[in-house]
Amino acid sequence: MELKEKVREKYGEAARRVLDGKGLPADCCSETACCEGSAAASCDPVTSHLYDGVEAGEIPDQALKASLGCGNPTALAELKAGETILDLGSGGGIDVLLSARRVGPTGKAYGLDMTDEMLMLARENQAKSGIRNVEFLKGEIENIPLPDNAVDVVISNCVINLSTDKDRVLKEAFRVLKPGGRFAVSDVVVRGQVPAAVKRSVELWVGCMAGALQDSEYTAKLAAAGFESIGIEPTRVYHVEDARQSLAEAGIDVDAIAPQVEGKFISAFIRAVKPA
Ligand SMILES: C[S@@+](CC[C@H](N)C(=O)[O-])C[C@H]1O[C@@H](n2cnc3c(N)ncnc32)[C@H](O)[C@@H]1O
Repeated sequence: MELKEKVREKYGEAARRVLDGKGLPADCCSETACCEGSAAASCDPVTSHLYDGVEAGEIPDQALKASLGCGNPTALAELKAGETILDLGSGGGIDVLLSARRVGPTGKAYGLDMTDEMLMLARENQAKSGIRNVEFLKGEIENIPLPDNAVDVVISNCVINLSTDKDRVLKEAFRVLKPGGRFAVSDVVVRGQVPAAVKRSVELWVGCMAGALQDSEYTAKLAAAGFESIGIEPTRVYHVEDARQSLAEAGIDVDAIAPQVEGKFISAFIRAVKPA
């Protein structure tokens, strides 16, 4: 609960700053987040340049500036007209608004978030966008406030790694998906073994990496929840040099941990299907 409150506090503060026109805080995702003048809201190696110009043109600038994801799930999820989409941890609403455009007026996109300020920001962004087939729900991804078999696609962008009960999140995603429904999520994943102490040091670097699962653990948890056709596709690979300055500032001996970290932390697109 304490961790969840910290997450809520952190993202509440981030949303308040965007609502006040101040932009994301410098420590929002990494020390280097939110470089002055960056078109994509930050020059953070995780959160920057995730969306192309066409996508940016489809949503309000404030939604793009509040983006805190680590991938672009709607670009990879092959959404179809008329489908119902659920975004777990929808933040400022960027992926919900893009999904709503993809599924069109006969479809619907739900956003789910536990942080009041994020919901306020997302609803403001929806109002600015004029997109109507959207609903933002307050709640936790561990207890999704939707009935069984309600949605065609569950998306999420850099949120499941933050949960302290990932098994429960995956079971809930499975429950609300219709038979044949797709899990199409961007998340930070660790490839192979990284010693626990080293993993913690890197997670200090990027708050949104905290709790990242190893790729084989992710696959096993999805299978245990009932999913099949599971795949983990790297979309970005992070390098020690990306984090050198902030790791050093945090008092970490970068050269000592480099061999155990280099190329191990990735953003990935994770796919799975609920059996039909
Ligand atoms: C890293 S941000 C990502 C936001 C959004 N997906 C994006 O791409 O910009 C994490 C978001 O997930 C929400 N969140 C974190 N843990 C949650 C939980 N257990 N239940 C519901 N929302 C959660 C936070 O409030 C925050 O808005």
